[in-house]
Amino acid sequence: MPENETTAPSLENLLHETRAFPPSPAFAAQANAQASLYEEAKADRLGFWADQARELVTWSTPFTQTLDWSGAPVAKWFADGKLNAAYNAVDRHVEAGLGDRVAIHFEGEPGDTRTVTYADLQREVSRAANALTALGVTQGDRVVIYLPMLVESVVAMLACARIGAPHSVVFGGFSADALRSRIADAEAKLVITADGGYRRGAPSALKPAVDEAVGPKDGEPASTVEHVLVVRRTGQDVAWTEGRDVWWHDALEHADTFHEPVAVDAEHPLFILYTSGTTGKPKGILHTTGGYLTQAAYTHKNVFDLKAESDVYWCTADIGWVTGHTYVVYGPLANGATQVIYEGTPDTPHRGRWWELVEKYQVSILYTAPTAIRTCMKWGEDIPAGFDLSSLRVLGSVGEPINPEAWMWYRRVIGGDTAPIVDTWWQTETGGIMISPLPGVTATKPGSAQVALPGIVADVVDDEAHSVPDGGGGYLVLSEPWPSMLRGIWGDLQRFKDTYWSRFEGLYFAGDGAKKDEDGDIWLLGRVDDVMNVSGHRLSTTEIESALVSHDVVAEAAVVGANDETTGQAVVAFVILRGEHADRASTPEGAEEVQAELRNHVAKEIGPIAKPRRILVVPELPKTRSGKIMRRLLRDVAENRTVGDATTLADSSVMDLISAGLAKPSASSED
Ligand code: WTA
Repeated sequence: MPENETTAPSLENLLHETRAFPPSPAFAAQANAQASLYEEAKADRLGFWADQARELVTWSTPFTQTLDWSGAPVAKWFADGKLNAAYNAVDRHVEAGLGDRVAIHFEGEPGDTRTVTYADLQREVSRAANALTALGVTQGDRVVIYLPMLVESVVAMLACARIGAPHSVVFGGFSADALRSRIADAEAKLVITADGGYRRGAPSALKPAVDEAVGPKDGEPASTVEHVLVVRRTGQDVAWTEGRDVWWHDALEHADTFHEPVAVDAEHPLFILYTSGTTGKPKGILHTTGGYLTQAAYTHKNVFDLKAESDVYWCTADIGWVTGHTYVVYGPLANGATQVIYEGTPDTPHRGRWWELVEKYQVSILYTAPTAIRTCMKWGEDIPAGFDLSSLRVLGSVGEPINPEAWMWYRRVIGGDTAPIVDTWWQTETGGIMISPLPGVTATKPGSAQVALPGIVADVVDDEAHSVPDGGGGYLVLSEPWPSMLRGIWGDLQRFKDTYWSRFEGLYFAGDGAKKDEDGDIWLLGRVDDVMNVSGHRLSTTEIESALVSHDVVAEAAVVGANDETTGQAVVAFVILRGEHADRASTPEGAEEVQAELRNHVAKEIGPIAKPRRILVVPELPKTRSGKIMRRLLRDVAENRTVGDATTLADSSVMDLISAGLAKPSASSED
């Protein structure tokens, strides 16, 4: 295993607890996916995808080519076809007579609600598309969306798709600085935001961050942004720049409810989504239209067994993450689903809020993250027991490995011991689900994502790229191109090649460690690179280190992800302070003050999600002779383990120094 060896539980321990849950015959009989799907895809993989693309997507110009891999690793799928993603998500359902079907049951955190039918959505998206056009946005222009979870967020994304303007959604929890760098990288022409949103019972502001992000700053010129479109959500006061800022409701009020969607090439960029990589600079992951939409619809239909006419689907992800793109917006809407969108947190105003919503809307398919499940476990099963959850029939998990205990709890307490669980492995880069059981087909195992979907080829390989035998471990790779694969990193083809395609010749390297069990099923074991996974959010150790060293008091910093019972991993930072500040931190109060300053600094540079849980002030960092920080040893310290083999350190006494220094109590924080 590599230097950044994963610290996930061993396969032996996992398997020890394993039993498989075969699908019930009743479920299997009515399931969308049948075992024959694997055979079909295996017999003719490209033909299989072409069939999916024709069946699930409506093309304004049908494609004749399926895959063009001549420009590898940049794929072209269905390249001579034309389509519009918003038309596929909305209009075609209205044309099919389903205009009165509810697309979105919106529930605001304060309890306000809104029901949006597909016909409503068509009018609203058309208006927004006309409004964007009136503000000068044309095909190919980039639009940054920085919004809470609102109906308008979905409308904004679809309006961009409708006019062929790639959107780049930035999670509302990112700071002004993070927003600024993403706007600059994408050279966005317009930003869509809100005055604020409701979170934990109070309005929180968004617009000030946009004002800071788009204006001139520290000698840097103002951004490329010409207009800021502002949704009024909370009614709080906002600063206003005349000529630049426009209220969403004003712009839409004057806009026509008819808009002709623009037919774009299958390979036209649909969106850019920034995600953390192993270096400090976030990567703009580029997705295009035809292949992405095909895989979004295909996976949503088969992995969740969606029956659009009867199911109520709820994915709890924020649109700021890829799960919100593929499984709140494009997949469910392409399939004509009825879904719930909830603005707030699971514990506001009480810890049963999610289950109350499941009962209220009769949710039948729930898709969420292991962190949320573990948090609910901690709160106790009597909370969900107070609600009628019998409508649930499929449960999904995504974002991080799910431990068998959480899996079993999810199945028993939330799923009434009957609903199949689909543990879905995928990434921002893959665009859609890649490895997952199929409900009704796969006998599920607690803690394993198990098998590549029909049409997908995944493997676990060793350092020499050899496929490991059953029972072996190594790195997860994807061996064949897939329709919703990333088409590159925005503006940086070389980085795209280096990051994903240089580790193993001809194979996509996902960055995850994995093992195969005796049945050949795949178990994901966490990242093997410098990417952490905190509450299902991807964070880069390097990015947080850069944020820390950009503060005056820090001379050097090293960040690790330490195992955490609830959040999967927690950010733990080791810092060396500059001379005079080291003195300041030598008293417990002084240390606490410095730690608080640094935590706030990281929140400002990146966002509150990246704040280190613990900051440990140390005299030295463990380095190899070539100067590489040995994070493995720091992780041992962060997880209170005996420090492992330190013989390759340039100075082997460093770990003693660090351990001795840490014997003193040090401040830590929980939020
Ligand atoms: C991790 C989220 C284990 C993995 C869709 C991956 C998972 C990273 C799972 C991508 C899962 C996601 N089991 N690990 N079911 N799903 N991961 O880009 O490390 O935010 O590489 O996409 O999350 O995170 P991203």
